[in-house]
Amino acid sequence: MVRASRPYDILIGRNIFDSFDRIIVSYFSPRKVVIVTDETVFELYGKSLSDDLKKRKFNVKIFKIKPGEQSKNIDNLTLLYDFLNNFGITRNDFIIALGGGVVGDLAGFAAASFLRGVSIVQMPTTLLAQVDSSVGGKTAINFGGGKNLVGAFYNPSLVICDADFLKTLQFKTFCDGMAEVLKYATAFSASLFEKIQNSKIDDILEEIILRCIILKKSIVEIDENDFRERMKLNFGHTIAHAIEKYNKYENITHGQAVSIGMVYILRQGEKFGLTKKGEAQKLINVLKKFRLPVEINIPHSEIFMNSLLDKKRRGNKMTVVVSPKIGQARLLDLTLDEYKNFLLS
Ligand code: GLY
Repeated sequence: MVRASRPYDILIGRNIFDSFDRIIVSYFSPRKVVIVTDETVFELYGKSLSDDLKKRKFNVKIFKIKPGEQSKNIDNLTLLYDFLNNFGITRNDFIIALGGGVVGDLAGFAAASFLRGVSIVQMPTTLLAQVDSSVGGKTAINFGGGKNLVGAFYNPSLVICDADFLKTLQFKTFCDGMAEVLKYATAFSASLFEKIQNSKIDDILEEIILRCIILKKSIVEIDENDFRERMKLNFGHTIAHAIEKYNKYENITHGQAVSIGMVYILRQGEKFGLTKKGEAQKLINVLKKFRLPVEINIPHSEIFMNSLLDKKRRGNKMTVVVSPKIGQARLLDLTLDEYKNFLLS
């Protein structure tokens, strides 16, 4: 259980998808439910989940979006509000987010804002969503070119994770999630980092999911609304979001951008004596195992400019997450001039 302002359970298992309807019944009596999913996940799991819930007397409707970051926009949010409204969803009903981070964030924000709050169950189907975005209550859409610029903190009522969902992921999507896993390892756990360095990934998949979720839970329990400690979960992300924004959310995935962002920060940290020498190379070696990029040909001045909308900026100050060594994170409060100097030196 996550002891947040509104506590919720996270259920993790392997090959438990067939029991999802049974699990739902143990939390909700039959009522209206909207399953938000994308076209790919609908074919794989959405239809059968809907059929199972209908057999259990739930009144189910499906809202489908196109896969990909570009779907996390205000037009889809408006369509979803219309859909919920036309279906007559009340605060007694609920939403299921069945999919990756895009589905979870969009459905989560709709749940947070429609009728000022409708219950939501997160069913993350990608590694990235299982280890990170489905837990912790951050919901958002992209807006005005900025990543996650409009959103809310809104805890789910329940998270259900089946590690076997990852079997149907494309290798590239799996590797995207590994960037977030390596974020946890680099910023919080040297032992997790070593384990990933030295193991066959399939052998430790469930353990990885569990360890990342436990790490995230421990952080959101002390700083649910991202005032300080939780910012460390954004290691590499300020740069990542700037790269995604520069690329207009095309041709680069979130995980790839995070991979580049983490290496960028470690390299700059080494230059400024804030990070132990050699740590960037250690991370690069592991990222390459997952075919993740470690640099990008964008002028650093553009990265700086595109990072200024980051939510870790407060007026003329920017908080940067650095890593003194693998397994540790530290927050650095810089003026914008100092921040510019840190990024561009
Ligand atoms: N994904 C970072 C956070 O949840 O704070």
